[in-house]
Amino acid sequence: MAIAACVRQIVTKPMQQGRIGVRHEVAWMAQTLRGYSAPVAAAERLTRSGLKSDAIPASNAERMGLAALATSATSAGICRRRVGRRYNTVATATATLEAPTEILRKDYQQPSFFIREVTLTVRIFDGRTEVASRMLLEKNTGGSLPLDGEDLKLKKVLLCGKELKEGEGYTLEKEKLIISADALEAGDSTDLWLETEVEIEPEKNTQLSGLYFSGSMYCTQMEAEGFRRFTYYLDRPDVMAKFTSVRLEADESKCPILLSNGNRIDSGKLEEGRHFAVWSDPFAKPSYLFAVVAGDLASIQDKFITKSGREVHLEIFAAKEDKDQLWHAMRSLQNSMKWDEERFGLEYDLDIYNIVAVKDFNMGAMENKSLNVFNTSLTLAREDTATDDDYERIEGVIGHEYFHNWTGNRVTCRDWFQLTLKEGLTVYRDQEFSADMGSRARKRIEDVRILRAAQFPEDNGPMSHPIRPEKYAAIDNFYTATVYNKGAEVIRMYETLLGRDGFRKGMDLYFERHDGNAVTCDDFRSAMQDANGRDLSQFERWYLQAGTPTVTATDAWDAETGTYSLTLKQTVPDTPGQMDKLPMQIPVRVGLLDRESGKELMRDTVLELCEESKTFELKLDETPSGRPVPSLLRGFSAPVKLEYDYSDEDLSLLAGFDTDSFNRWESMQRLGSKAVLDAFKTEDIDSFQPDATFMDAMKRIVQDKVTDDLSLIAYALILPTESTLMQQAKPPIDPTRLHEARNRVRKVIATELEDDMRKRYDELTPKDDEKYVIDGPSSSQRRLRNVLLAYLCTSGDAKAAELCGKHFKTAKGMTDKLAAFSCLCNIPDSQEAKEAIEQFLADANGDANVIDKWFASQARADVDDLLPRVKKLMEHPEFSLKNPNRLRSVVSVFISSPQFHLPDGSGYDFALEMIPKVDALNPQVAARMANGAFRTWRLLDEKRQKMILDRLADLSKAGLSKDAAEIVSKMQA
Ligand code: BES
Ligand code: ZN
Repeated sequence: MAIAACVRQIVTKPMQQGRIGVRHEVAWMAQTLRGYSAPVAAAERLTRSGLKSDAIPASNAERMGLAALATSATSAGICRRRVGRRYNTVATATATLEAPTEILRKDYQQPSFFIREVTLTVRIFDGRTEVASRMLLEKNTGGSLPLDGEDLKLKKVLLCGKELKEGEGYTLEKEKLIISADALEAGDSTDLWLETEVEIEPEKNTQLSGLYFSGSMYCTQMEAEGFRRFTYYLDRPDVMAKFTSVRLEADESKCPILLSNGNRIDSGKLEEGRHFAVWSDPFAKPSYLFAVVAGDLASIQDKFITKSGREVHLEIFAAKEDKDQLWHAMRSLQNSMKWDEERFGLEYDLDIYNIVAVKDFNMGAMENKSLNVFNTSLTLAREDTATDDDYERIEGVIGHEYFHNWTGNRVTCRDWFQLTLKEGLTVYRDQEFSADMGSRARKRIEDVRILRAAQFPEDNGPMSHPIRPEKYAAIDNFYTATVYNKGAEVIRMYETLLGRDGFRKGMDLYFERHDGNAVTCDDFRSAMQDANGRDLSQFERWYLQAGTPTVTATDAWDAETGTYSLTLKQTVPDTPGQMDKLPMQIPVRVGLLDRESGKELMRDTVLELCEESKTFELKLDETPSGRPVPSLLRGFSAPVKLEYDYSDEDLSLLAGFDTDSFNRWESMQRLGSKAVLDAFKTEDIDSFQPDATFMDAMKRIVQDKVTDDLSLIAYALILPTESTLMQQAKPPIDPTRLHEARNRVRKVIATELEDDMRKRYDELTPKDDEKYVIDGPSSSQRRLRNVLLAYLCTSGDAKAAELCGKHFKTAKGMTDKLAAFSCLCNIPDSQEAKEAIEQFLADANGDANVIDKWFASQARADVDDLLPRVKKLMEHPEFSLKNPNRLRSVVSVFISSPQFHLPDGSGYDFALEMIPKVDALNPQVAARMANGAFRTWRLLDEKRQKMILDRLADLSKAGLSKDAAEIVSKMQA
């Protein structure tokens, strides 16, 4: 490629695709998805050797990327300067209509130097912190050394002990410190030591990226690109260094606890009431896994003995008042450590494992080596502060961050395009952990619910991107449901295709080959392929192509020969910037049921669809009574939409008899979707009646006394989320009407089945002297009872208010209390609701997580005047724009409610007002908010589309951050 073309790519490459989602938002959504928050819609819401050439991708696409580079970049200066992680930074304060500059996956180049060793000295003072770093460089491709830095005050630069001056040895750009090739070449010694000194202001850091101050502590968040806000560095994951000495100094009374990664090797007192601690981490790591915590914290301690007999000291820190809410996290950590040994043979590798809970945090949690930092909302739990879902989520997230120690830390990503390598895989691992700790069937349903409500819309919207994106402007925008949840489904497909043992062999080979390295998704696929002697080249399309494939099934039954044949056809939709896609390798797990008896006619079989269309002849083990009923895509064996012309009777049979618990649930979902979409299409929604088959099936479920796992009954009773239904209805969609249609169906169910529901509710109601237990069966019992409560309250009448009021007052734990509270928020004028609103806040007693629940329940209430209520909530003294949890619990929750789409556009105006305000404080959170607000706009009716486009145009002139600007610009594309 000519230089000119290369330049054009850098500067003017138009943005086309992408898509946000972010895990923490997904967690929030999960909260709503559990169902009993109820008539409300689904919230739209959710070493050295290793770094040399052997760590560079071995397989096709990556190689092609490199090859393209080799021919294009040559020695062209401008391209050279783009080595590594460069942004042509878009000014944050200037109005721009242009898309921010993008970085392309195919442009990956190795760094000009590696950093092999680092020593840091961090001196924390009130209002300012000094960071001095000393780095041992190793020449790689050579040339100049562009170090990343953002919001740093540079004090000094020394190379091999000699001070450099600006213009003589280095140049300083807005977000780069460039050490000149001449200076680097001049260093005569073999050891190239570079030293810098900078000053930062953590107290003023509202972005919560880098080092910041949060109430009782200083803490860091470095992933993805926060380390550059701490000190000048090659802030990219393929630069792995040993942090041999991290010295922390601070005032002892303010910061008695000083933590970093690895082992504490020294500590002591200094003058003027100050003290120090020195930490050393024996494992080389990328900068994004570095962490520091300094503050006045309480902790709990325990231990874990690994299978090879190493004793690991476990400690969990939090603000003093939260100390009694840490034990569930500790047990979860111990369970995670044991599980990874048993399932994957993976053992912990250090003598210490610390977790710190912090209240101001952009995400859910972070896997820093031996020093995880967690959002308090995913750490703290006591039965009166956390719901059953919170308990489960905490266990899952503790697992997730622990599992990263192998999938993410020991083997890390070469570049951020490979994010799903660590995140998709680790989500898969945490899903499996949770399945083993609780109910596998229920976990699968929950995960698919989340996928459909969060990832499917993403894949079908303006931000659609493959699990391994091809480009981005702000990497923070790519911590998406696609990279995470679809990424996990892609990993699950390897397991389905290779079997559990085959998958384990692949994992073993992956660690054998890549331990200590920064690698690619192709390296992972190669390990799976080589360990199993399978050709997985077509499977790469799951990494290359965006969009949710549709698999359409048709069948034929030859009664005479007893042959059942199934034809599967796939289509992969066009997505922004990607047309004419190639067929994927899709594992479709199927079974056949007898139409009369509901008995299984064939063993569960995995069909591999690799072509656009293929017909499979299935061998039956039993003689059927007639044309068999197929149970398709069992266990949701691939992240696709499965279409088959099921009759209501077929679905009802599957709902009752399928041996696959996922498909039993799925059949009810299909019936439910059909009911809501039928209502949506009728003129007079208020008089709509669902089909009898559906109502009968619902009744059977309410009365089901055979299924032990009451959660399965609960989930079968919950209609598909509005966000899922939006993907099923035919655009243009009026979301208000869709909401009414769903509510209508709920109401008919509640009215017709009231007696059955009330009876079951009463049976499930705990006796006065019954103890509140947190375990699987008890929480399933609560789940079902709370789903029933939500149905019984749909009328919103005095009887409903009374029932809810009683449920609220007699609740022994947060699960029941919150379920009742949420229902009461839907009948806000009732006396019971007024009392509960006061009581809930008083009972919270200042506990931030409980107060968040108080805000969120009100901000998602199914009431007509929601927006004025939300604005009122924002005037409450407990409200703050600076704390992401609080902001999410009010603003993001509202933005995902049906009321956001009020026909007068007032919801959209509210978003338009909030996004720039939040952006000025915290770009990451603002970008997610913008995405959550507008990503489905193309599915909406013309009037709403126009209103949203107008707001997007205004936003694009608002001088937004790179993060938010990327979203706004992609939305408009
Ligand atoms: N590595 C991420 C946290 C992260 C993501 C930090 C993006 C900075 C930017 C962590 O492992 C993670 O994935 N956390 C999830 C929760 C998890 C259970 C999926 C999160 O924070 O939402
Ligand atoms: Zn993760």
